[in-house]
Amino acid sequence: MESRYGYEVPAEDVELTHVELGSPMGELMRRYWQPVCVSDELTDLPLKVRILCEDLVLFRDGTGRIGCLDPHCAHRGTSLEYGRIEAEGIRCCYHGWLYDTEGKCIDMPCEQPGYAERMDVRLPGYPVHEFGGLVFIYMGPPAKQPVFPIYDILDTRDRDDVVLRGMRMWDDSSIGFVRDCNWLQHFENVVDPWHLVVLHQQVGLGRFEGALLHGERPDISFERTSLGVRYRLVSNLPNGNLLERYAECVLPNIFLVSNIHETGERPKNKDRCSEVSWAVPVDDEHVRAFTIAAWPARDGIPEPDWRPRTDTTSPEGAPLNRASPSARRGERTFTERQRFPDDMEAQESQRPIAVHALENLTLADNGIVMLRRLLHQSIDRMRQGKDPMNIVRDPAKNTAIETNAWNTVIAPPLTDVGE
Ligand code: FES
Ligand SMILES: [Fe+2]
Repeated sequence: MESRYGYEVPAEDVELTHVELGSPMGELMRRYWQPVCVSDELTDLPLKVRILCEDLVLFRDGTGRIGCLDPHCAHRGTSLEYGRIEAEGIRCCYHGWLYDTEGKCIDMPCEQPGYAERMDVRLPGYPVHEFGGLVFIYMGPPAKQPVFPIYDILDTRDRDDVVLRGMRMWDDSSIGFVRDCNWLQHFENVVDPWHLVVLHQQVGLGRFEGALLHGERPDISFERTSLGVRYRLVSNLPNGNLLERYAECVLPNIFLVSNIHETGERPKNKDRCSEVSWAVPVDDEHVRAFTIAAWPARDGIPEPDWRPRTDTTSPEGAPLNRASPSARRGERTFTERQRFPDDMEAQESQRPIAVHALENLTLADNGIVMLRRLLHQSIDRMRQGKDPMNIVRDPAKNTAIETNAWNTVIAPPLTDVGE
């Protein structure tokens, strides 16, 4: 036995985990459009958000334009989260300075007319892009701003069978809601399919409805894709069919998890993942996630809730103890959480920031190794002045960018019954 006496915990991998302004990963994340809220959350009240260790205030003015500004009024610092939204912008509650969505102060009611124009006060902020029911901001160097990437799932120009729907991926009503840990713990969980077998089937709540975990021990491998890393899982199902499944991490923080509710009953070829999700660092020790789903629709009208999703599922879509009356985060007792741990318990307890130097990675962790390596390489590219992976600049090439996550179900070949 090794004594723990004098045992010291090494530092975390700062390059991959810290996200404040000027940190390597913080700067990498800032090179991409990041989701900050759902469009419907911009109401008649301002919305304060925290992302990449920065506090910001978002609002939609009376004409529909969205502003994303430093929260502190340029006059004497009162937070605009207490401001009043008007037709032309947001007005500070303290002395009434009015800011438009670009951050320009356009009215100072305590001063003489024309004073605001002469002062030319501007509050810093970030560009905003609304897409698919989510609000995105770009926090990087202005000269490096990319176009918003249109992945195949999001390219619905020629489709009338789906509408795009933006949502927070989980909320407090989900016990699978992972929140209080570093973003990378949550992101790399997507290419950790073995935890589905253990945590979600053998140990934890184990409420998978689909065929994924009801076959034999699956064969799992990991592959580099055009956008990042994916796993390939092949499982012989009890009904004799074969399930081939892929889930993908798209650098730096997008993930695609194909339908976990696949029953495996009917053969199908490349049933593509219908959602694009983002694991967004709030700060170094907190994460939140957003999703745009290609939601089934009829004549442009979204179908009613067509499967358990936002408030009952984990990142992999595992239904979370829906039978339990105490399934909300924070409502389960510690003993319940010990008896039936889920993603939240597994990931948050890796420490607020997991310490890679203490890990003993195995072949089962190969997807995680590949992902971390690619993230380091992307940071290196950025340092060399090049665009990191998956930056899109050419609008002409920004259509239906191919993603790499789907389920395929193969029926066994018909056997020859003889003459
Ligand atoms: S602090 Fe905002 S107007 Fe004075
Ligand atoms: Fe999970």
